[in-house]
Amino acid sequence: MTIVVTAATGQLGRLALEALLRKGVPAGEIVAGGRDLSKLADLADTGIQLKVIDYDRPDTLAEAFRGADKVLFISASEPGRRIPQHKNVIDAAKAANVGLIAYTSIANAGTTTMKLASDHLATEAALKASGLPVVLLRHGWYLEVYTAQIPGYLERGSIAGAAGGGRVSGASRADLAEADVEALLNAEGGEVYEMGGDESFTLSELAAEISRQSGREVAYNDLPTDEFRQVLSSIGLPAPLDEILADCDRGIRDGELHVGTGDLSRLLGRPTRSLEEAVKAALA
Ligand SMILES: NC(=O)c1ccc[n+]([C@@H]2O[C@H](COP(=O)([O-])OP(=O)(O)OC[C@H]3O[C@@H](n4cnc5c(N)ncnc54)[C@H](OP(=O)(O)O)[C@@H]3O)[C@@H](O)[C@H]2O)c1
Repeated sequence: MTIVVTAATGQLGRLALEALLRKGVPAGEIVAGGRDLSKLADLADTGIQLKVIDYDRPDTLAEAFRGADKVLFISASEPGRRIPQHKNVIDAAKAANVGLIAYTSIANAGTTTMKLASDHLATEAALKASGLPVVLLRHGWYLEVYTAQIPGYLERGSIAGAAGGGRVSGASRADLAEADVEALLNAEGGEVYEMGGDESFTLSELAAEISRQSGREVAYNDLPTDEFRQVLSSIGLPAPLDEILADCDRGIRDGELHVGTGDLSRLLGRPTRSLEEAVKAALA
């Protein structure tokens, strides 16, 4: 059995490698792929095979996927560039006749209207058209999207957003990576997992939790979508990323990042990490 993890230089990819090892997959059966193998240098002694995988370079994909039974295909990180990049990945997987490909998509991909989702929808369609056995790992928001910003929230005493009273089923990267691996190891193809935390929260509730645990007042400042876009632009987000991220809050407001399936905790066989635990760890 050979299992390839793409984007293994990233945070989710690294956690997936750790989860594979924890679940007893022999290191020699794992291929960790990344654009810059120096980021994986600390794995050299583990027995995990390291291979260059660059979604913009089909030659690297052909080489990395040769003989692969399963591929954990982690989405690339630049919205707008991902459709051709992901097409390269799917074409190479098809040419190599990989046994199963599991893709990290976005929650509620079947119904979402978020601009950020368009690359994922195109990728899901290309995967379906490939005829390969596919597993869709539709991720909700990482809890870390918010907890990484806690220092800034505390400094400003506020969280700016445009999400209104919409609920986010936040889940930790580690939980998602562990569940991705569980699905990858057991799936046969055709599975669709809608993955979110057991609990959901509004951004007002997020602010209240940070206030409660830090002892410092943090308020949620809800803005119209375009005003929030201007805030994102003023802190340096280039177009069209400012618009795409402001629109994510519009999507949250409309319930598009609420996930009520329980798929994530079912895959984990335990409850998901809570907002309370994530805030506590971030403040520690
Ligand atoms: N659900 C959420 O809340 C959420 C939040 C942020 C992102 N995401 C998505 O989930 C993915 C994984 O998240 P993460 O936390 O691991 O992000 P991350 O730490 O930023 O890692 C992104 C990974 O994608 C790789 N990558 C980007 N473009 C690539 C390309 N053209 N060819 C090959 N590899 C490429 C990066 O490689 P390098 O190391 O070479 O840069 C890196 O390994 C992201 O890429 C993004 O699509 C989800």
